[in-house]
Amino acid sequence: MKADAWLKRAHATETGAFRRVIVSNAADLNDADSLIDLETNLRAPRTTIVTEPAARGQSMKSYLTHLECTYCHGTFSADEPQRTCPDCSKVLYPRYDMAAAKAGFDRAALPSRPSNMWRYFEMMPVRDEANVITLGEGYTPIFKAERLGPEMGCSALYIKDEGLNPTGSFKARGLSAAVSKAKELGITKLTMPSAGNAAGAMTAYAAKGAMEAYVFMPRDAPDSNLKEVVITGGILTLVDGLITDAGRLSRQKAKEEGLFDISTLQEPYRVEGKKTMGYEIAEQMSWTLPDAIIYPTGGGTGIVGMWKAFEEMEELGWIDGKRPKMFCVQSEGCAPMVRAFREGTEFAEPWQDAQTMAAGIRVPSGIGDYLILRALRESSGGAVTVTDDEILWYMKQVASLEGMFICPEGAATAAALSKLLANQELSPDDNILLLNTGAGLKYLELLESVGA
Ligand SMILES: Cc1ncc(COP(=O)(O)O)c(C=O)c1O
Ligand SMILES: [Zn+2]
Repeated sequence: MKADAWLKRAHATETGAFRRVIVSNAADLNDADSLIDLETNLRAPRTTIVTEPAARGQSMKSYLTHLECTYCHGTFSADEPQRTCPDCSKVLYPRYDMAAAKAGFDRAALPSRPSNMWRYFEMMPVRDEANVITLGEGYTPIFKAERLGPEMGCSALYIKDEGLNPTGSFKARGLSAAVSKAKELGITKLTMPSAGNAAGAMTAYAAKGAMEAYVFMPRDAPDSNLKEVVITGGILTLVDGLITDAGRLSRQKAKEEGLFDISTLQEPYRVEGKKTMGYEIAEQMSWTLPDAIIYPTGGGTGIVGMWKAFEEMEELGWIDGKRPKMFCVQSEGCAPMVRAFREGTEFAEPWQDAQTMAAGIRVPSGIGDYLILRALRESSGGAVTVTDDEILWYMKQVASLEGMFICPEGAATAAALSKLLANQELSPDDNILLLNTGAGLKYLELLESVGA
C-alpha cells in the first residue's frame, strides 16, 4: 500500500487517535505487514485528561506478591516500607505471581489503554490504582534515525526519546512508581541524593502527591535540575562533593528526622518504573526486541530495569527468548562499570575523582553494580567509554540530523555506537536502539562551551 493511502486509512481509523508509537518514514510503508503493525499501534486513544492511570474504568489488579533479595534470595513483605535486604544489604526486587499473571494479563488488553507507563499495571507494584501519582510518564516514541543511521553506517538505527517524559527525563518513570508506592505505604516525607534529573522528578511527584521532599545535590549539578527542585517545592541542600557524599547526608537526615530515603536501588520500586522502558520497547517493536540496546549508565537502574522486564515478559509468554545485547556507556572520566566489566569482577570498585560533563553518569559507585554487570554478561553485551568531546559532537550530530535535542548522557550512546561499530562488536546490519534518557534543553549551560 502506498504511503498516501496508508495515511488516509490511519486517519480514518480514529481521527485524533494517534498514540505515541514507533515513528518511521511513512514512505517506507508499502507492504501489508508494516501496515498491520502500525495500525494496531495507532488504535489506542490519546490520553487527554488523566484522572486514572491506565484502564479507564476497567479495574486492574497488580500481581505483586513479595520482595526478593537479588543476592541472597531472602523474601520480604511488599506491604510495609522496605529499603535494601535486611540480611545482606543488597537490592530488593518486587516479585509477582507469574503463573496467575500469565493466565490473567493478556497483552491484547494493552492497545485500548492510555499511553503511559501504568498501562502495565498488572506488573507494577502499586496495589490500588487510587494511589498512582501520574504526570503522564512513559510511552515515549521510538524514532528511526533516518539520517544519523546511514551517516554512521547503520541500516536499522532507532532512538527512544525519554526526553519527552514529564520533567524532561526517564527519571519520571522511577519516581512515579516509587512515590506512588510510598504513598500507598503511608509514607509522607521523602529524601534523596541526586546528581541531576532524579531530584526534580521526585519533587514533582511529591508535589502532586502532597508529600514533603528533601533533596541533597552536588553544588555543580546542572542549573535546571536545581531550579526544578525549588519550583516544585522541594527542600534543597547543596553539597560540596559528589553524589556519594550527597547520599551520606541524605541517609543521615533520614535517620535523624524519620524521612524515607528513596535513593536509587536502595528502595525496591524505582526500578519498577524504569522497567517499563523494556515493556514499551517490546510493545512498540511489535514484540520483537532489537539486537542491541545502548544505555548511559550511572546507578544502572535503567539497564537492570529493562533486563528485569525482558525476564518477566518471557515468563508471561509475551516475547521469545531472544533478548538484546545490553551495552553500558560511561564517560572516560567516570567508568567504574566499564572497568569492572573488563576486569571480570562481580562488583565495581568506586571510581576516584569522577569527572564528566554528563552529570547523570557521574556516579562513582552504586549498590546495583553486580546487577548491571550480570545483565551485560548474560546478554553477551559490553561496556564502553566515551570522552566529553565525543558527547558534545554527538549532541550536535543527533540534533542537526534528527532534529532531536538530546541530553549529553543520551549523546554518549551515539558516541558509544561509533566505537562498537569500529571494533566490530556491533555490525551495520544490526537492529540497534539508543536510549536518549533526557532533554537537551535541561543542559543549556553546557552548550556555551561549543559556541551554540
Ligand atoms: C539523563 C540521565 N541519563 C542517565 C542517567 C543514569 O541513569 P541510571 O541511574 O539508570 O544508570 C541519569 C541519572 O541521573 C540521567 O539523569
Ligand atoms: Zn539479601
